[in-house]
Parts: sequence; structure tokens; C-alpha cells
Amino acid sequence: MTGKPIRVALLGCGTVGQEVVRLLREQADELAARAGAPLELAGVAVRRPHRHAGLGELLTTDASGLVARDDVDVVAEVIGGIEPARTLLLEALKAGKSVVTANKALLAEDGAALAEAADSSGADLYYEASVAGAIPLLRPLRESLAGDRITRVAGIVNGTTNFILSAMTESGSSYADALEEATRLGYAEADPSADVDGYDAASKAAILASLAFHTRVTAADVHCEGIREVTAADIAAAAGIGCVIKLLAICERTPAEDGASESVSARVHPAMIPAAHPLAAVDGAFNAVFVEAEAAGQLMFYGQGAGGAPTASAVLGDLVAVARNRLAGAAGPGSTGYAGLAIRPMAETPTQYHVSLDVADKPGVLSAVAHEFAVHDVSISTVRQDGHGDAATLVIVTHRAPDAALAATITALRGMDIVRAVTSVLRVEGLE
Ligand SMILES: NC(=O)c1ccc[n+]([C@@H]2O[C@H](COP(=O)([O-])OP(=O)(O)OC[C@H]3O[C@@H](n4cnc5c(N)ncnc54)[C@H](OP(=O)(O)O)[C@@H]3O)[C@@H](O)[C@H]2O)c1
Repeated sequence: MTGKPIRVALLGCGTVGQEVVRLLREQADELAARAGAPLELAGVAVRRPHRHAGLGELLTTDASGLVARDDVDVVAEVIGGIEPARTLLLEALKAGKSVVTANKALLAEDGAALAEAADSSGADLYYEASVAGAIPLLRPLRESLAGDRITRVAGIVNGTTNFILSAMTESGSSYADALEEATRLGYAEADPSADVDGYDAASKAAILASLAFHTRVTAADVHCEGIREVTAADIAAAAGIGCVIKLLAICERTPAEDGASESVSARVHPAMIPAAHPLAAVDGAFNAVFVEAEAAGQLMFYGQGAGGAPTASAVLGDLVAVARNRLAGAAGPGSTGYAGLAIRPMAETPTQYHVSLDVADKPGVLSAVAHEFAVHDVSISTVRQDGHGDAATLVIVTHRAPDAALAATITALRGMDIVRAVTSVLRVEGLE
């Protein structure tokens, strides 16, 4: 038994939008049965209608007019970028229409404005497709774990950089060669900066941290380093200590200590992780995210993080959910910023470093280098020294220390006469 159709305005019909249209059409009967009413396309807004001839009269270039139409119940946005998406979605929410979006950039920059508009009109704002493509991750954070206290969310959320780092690890190739291969195979865009500079992962980290810690975290709050500086020597150095390098997004809750209140941090940077760590086995364009919660313990989510059909699967799941809510006259879980925790700056966030140095091989060098770590209150976990002629390679892994102290130690080492070169500096995760 199904009710009156739920009418969907689709904004954008590119890689993801085309798959949303296909699945809405091909699975119409099943979707109707699951949602409780048919999901009907009311219209599709694009920029260049001549490229979408198959959509006939559904097509429009007037996205704002489509959103405002009385016969539209739900707006699904897969245009991307900040404007006009922000204005269109605010218009929809203010008019009480439910919104489904895949737009990580907009949510990470101005998710609060969208959440407030949804809260005030009682409309739904769902965005499962914005992080980790097909992987059900946001709904588990928002709903399944609503009874628990999440302490950490960490993982691989960008397939392009994971593909490049996997290729560098497997073939020993340089960053430039691996990027060229990724571009040739369609895993990297012509302008890869959003991926390789870490911005895409930082947007996702902001969305994950906001949901996990019930605190507004924006992309600007996320410390962000990309993979351009990762060298074949770094990959070899990682292998030397039984590790691989991954670009990680890490969101953590820091307990209250020394009179300071609880805080949260979010960061994106390349890191060495032990080859036996489950994230080390996540290769190519796949994504995986670890969630740690006080009662649930560790959970791992794994799957395809991008692509038209996988991302459309998440959009369709949200469309069914908001349709069910509308039919029930209810709204799903709303805004989650009630905790309002402080954002801990990267400089104060405890991290662990792996450092490789070329030094003069003479008495006193090791103690002079160790002294520089001690001066900055950084404790050393392991040291390995390999002599070759009048030079030696020192490989040092630290214990966790505030990131600023570690960075200051590296600056001081670079200024020492006995240090000929600092050949590799990378953070390490999962060794302690
Ligand atoms: N692709 C993925 O694997 C993936 C994965 C996860 C999330 N996402 C997110 O999904 C969203 C869409 O990504 P995509 O890869 O599908 O993008 P895309 O292939 O570039 O498609 C964008 C679509 O938006 C339309 N468009 C652009 N400006 C418009 C405007 N002003 N008014 C109306 N339509 C407009 C374009 O119209 P024309 O076709 O006429 O040019 C095109 O159909 C983004 O937020 C992205 O971050 C994508």
C-alpha cells in the first residue's frame, strides 16, 4: 500500500546525478515499497541542457524556480561547490522542503546555517553521500551511536590520495609519477589540488567531527597537510620500520586535564601506520574509517568512497529516509552542536614523529641530537644508527608530544652543524 508520490527536485545531473536518475527509474517499484510512496522526479536542474537530452521536459536551467515549485517535497543537491548550492538549499529548507545533499565542501564551510534552517522549519537535512561515498557512516554516527560517547574517528577518506600512496608503496615510484598514473586512469582530476593538498579530506573531517562530538567544526578548524611532499625516501623509511604511509583524517576528543575543559581536534596529514594495522590494507580508491566509542569499543567501516553509483546509493538511502519521515509527519535527527566543545589547536595536539637524519659519524653526535629532543621536552622511543664511512643515518621515533614541540625540535636539528640533512619527517600513528 503506497501513498501520494513524494516529488523530488534534482539539482545537478553529473557523475552522481545521472546515477541517481537511473536508480530512481530502475528501482521505482522497490523504492516506493520501501519509502511508503513513489519517489517521483519533479525536475532536474543543470547548466547545459543539451548534454542531457534523455531527460526531456524534466530539464530546467532555473534551479531556483524548480526549488520554489509547490509540487516539490524534497530537494536533492548534487551540483557541488558553495554557490549557488548554499542559496538553493537554504531556500528549500526555509520553505519546509527536505534536503538531501552530497556537498561536503558546503557542509564543512557552512553546515551550521543549513542545520539552523532545517531546525527552524522542521525539515530534514541528510548528507550521507558527503563523506566516504557509499559507506554508511554518518547515519551510524548520528543514530546507531546516539547512545554512546564517541572518542575518536580516524581513517582514509580520500580515494585519490590513497591510490597515489598505494602506487608509490607498490612500485617505489615518485609522487609525480604516481599522480600521472592516477590522472591517466581517471582516479585524479585534471586539477588534483582539492585531493592532494588534503582539502577534500579536511571537509570530511569537519563533518565527521561535528557529528561525532556534537560540536560545530568547520573546514577552517581542521589542520590540513596534503601528500605533495611525500617522497619515495619517506615510503622506504616507513617500510624500514614495518610501516606504510596513508593520508589520515583524525578527529579526537581530548579529556579534561590540568584544569582545562574537554576539547576536540581534527587534522588531516600523511602518517606512517604499522603494516599490520587494518587501515594499512586499504588500497587504491577504497575508504575506511575507524570509530572508537566508550561503550561500543572499536568499529570499522570500509567500502567504495566515491564514484557515481556508490555515491548515488547513499543519496537514494537518504531520499527513502526523508520520504518516510515526511509520510510519518516527523523529522529525522536534527542539529548536533549542543556540546559546543573547544577546538584544540594542532600545536597542542599530541602527535608522534619519525625522523631520519644524515649526520657526521663521530663521537658525541648521538648525544648532541638526543639533547636537542630533551631540550624541547620530547621523549625518544627508539633510535637506530647505521654508519657508512664518515657519515651515518639516524632514525628516531619519538613518543607522543605536543606537535609544536616536535616541529620546533626539527627546526633546531636542521640548524645543527653535525646534521648534514633531515631526510624524512613524518608523523606516526598507531605505534603506541
Ligand atoms: N563524483 C563522486 O564520486 C562524488 C563522491 C562523493 C560526493 N560527491 C559530491 O557530489 C556532488 C556532485 O559531484 P559530481 O561528481 O556528480 O559533479 P559533476 O559531475 O561535476 O556534476 C555537477 C552537475 O551540476 C550541474 N551544475 C553545475 N552548476 C550548476 C548550476 N549553477 N545550476 C544547475 N546545475 C548546475 C552540472 O550541470 P551540467 O551537466 O549541465 O554541466 C552537472 O550536471 C559534489 O558535491 C561532490 O563533492 C561526488
